[in-house]
Amino acid sequence: MNEIFVCVGSACHLKGSYDVIDCFKNWIKDNELQDDFVVKASFCLGHCTDAVSVKLGEEIYSVSPDSVEEFINQNIAWSRQL
Ligand code: FES
Repeated sequence: MNEIFVCVGSACHLKGSYDVIDCFKNWIKDNELQDDFVVKASFCLGHCTDAVSVKLGEEIYSVSPDSVEEFINQNIAWSRQL
């Protein structure tokens, strides 16, 4: 199971954490990846100026509600050949 952590700290919350979470959840559902991925809310990841912060493995990325799809294509879907 791969965990996608989305920061819901105040800076990230203001930049749309919950929209980012919804996008990830929809992607998981649409692609029937419930056995492979789970989205979890996280406390501040220490990269507030890059909000919304998303942690995947050991890496922390800056993602916005508008760039989630691009993020998935570049960092997740491509590596899994979806
Ligand atoms: S509030 Fe999200 S990284 Fe700090």
